[in-house]
Amino acid sequence: MKLTALTLLAMPVLLLAQNEYCQGEYDATKAGTCDAFQFENVVPDQQQCGTDKKPQKVEGGVQQTNCTTFYDISSLPSQEIDAHTIRMTQLITNVFENGNTQMGYSAANDIKDCRGYTCGYIGFTTGTNDAYAVIQQYIKRKEGNPFAKYMDPLKLLTTYEFNDPRRADVSELVGFAKVWKETACKDPVFVQSQLDVGHSMYLKPALKYAASVHVTSNLGKAIFYDTIVQHGWQYVEPLINLPRILAITGPRGDDSEKVYLNRFLTTRRKLACCYPGKVWNDSSSRMSDLQRLVAAWERNKDLTRPVHLQAFGVTVTGKESITFDRAGCKSFKPFKRLPSPNDIPIPQCPAN
Ligand SMILES: *[C@@H]1O[C@H](CO)[C@@H](O)[C@H](O)[C@H]1NC(C)=O
Ligand SMILES: *[C@@H]1O[C@H](CO)[C@@H](O)[C@H](O)[C@H]1NC(C)=O
Repeated sequence: MKLTALTLLAMPVLLLAQNEYCQGEYDATKAGTCDAFQFENVVPDQQQCGTDKKPQKVEGGVQQTNCTTFYDISSLPSQEIDAHTIRMTQLITNVFENGNTQMGYSAANDIKDCRGYTCGYIGFTTGTNDAYAVIQQYIKRKEGNPFAKYMDPLKLLTTYEFNDPRRADVSELVGFAKVWKETACKDPVFVQSQLDVGHSMYLKPALKYAASVHVTSNLGKAIFYDTIVQHGWQYVEPLINLPRILAITGPRGDDSEKVYLNRFLTTRRKLACCYPGKVWNDSSSRMSDLQRLVAAWERNKDLTRPVHLQAFGVTVTGKESITFDRAGCKSFKPFKRLPSPNDIPIPQCPAN
């Protein structure tokens, strides 16, 4: 899970627009807008990395106390999602993450957000354990391991406390980005491994959190998925995660799903506008686009018609191929099919 929603490419455009989406009720400088978030002691992004790579006490820094970084959601209800909605959902989030409808499987960049390399279609990172999880899943299905020399350093990174600046360290990962890109451009098994881990760590938990507040429309599922991809559901990120957005939004009460989703996105957009520093500010256009979809509820709730994401200037039809990263793998021969998915369980502690 990564902090920023933006590729470096998308940045210059959105920098210009940053204040446009943080005005009126989202204006962080106005009394009251940010009270609920308690960001007073947050160190703005970048600075968390420190300069000496030594552990430092950071507000919000949390130690992993059990076998997982995630909340226990085993008691939340589940719900299904159909194949077309999965595709729409992933494409919408891909536009926000990668700026277009070409699934960013091959991306791997150190975007200096203190999370090491940000990789693949939903920004798995070397600093938060999930890039490592993708590689572990991949080598289960594959003879030989192009990432072999990085396994020990990757494992070491997972042992540090969260927000320990050493998690941002890429000095033992020389050449990693190239290997990630080549593997994503050449091997459909690696692409499927990314999707399998994405489903297990983010899509299925998103569906559960949505079900827990009776959000059952296809658009609602897409919104919860996009939220969990951007904000996570890790107890080690207590100030920004999905459960916190739900708590600050408050109970659903008698609200219709449309009204509730708008409240939810209002909280999420305020969070982005209120968080110190520019990384989150820049992503408030993402919530604005989702709010527009909710506003045209009858048209968009089932996600059966194309959706236009205004701030990003992209239309998603659901007919786009999600098999091959055409934008990132220009000099590679496209593959047409992916292997069958592996249904990985939601990461939880084993029952004792
Ligand atoms: C792991 O521990 C944290 C912190 O005590 C807790 O919030 C979380 O629900 C636990 N996760 C699981 C899967 O038990
Ligand atoms: C983020 O937006 C708020 C206004 O909504 C502003 O106070 C703050 O300075 C912005 N941060 C940056 C780095 O632009």
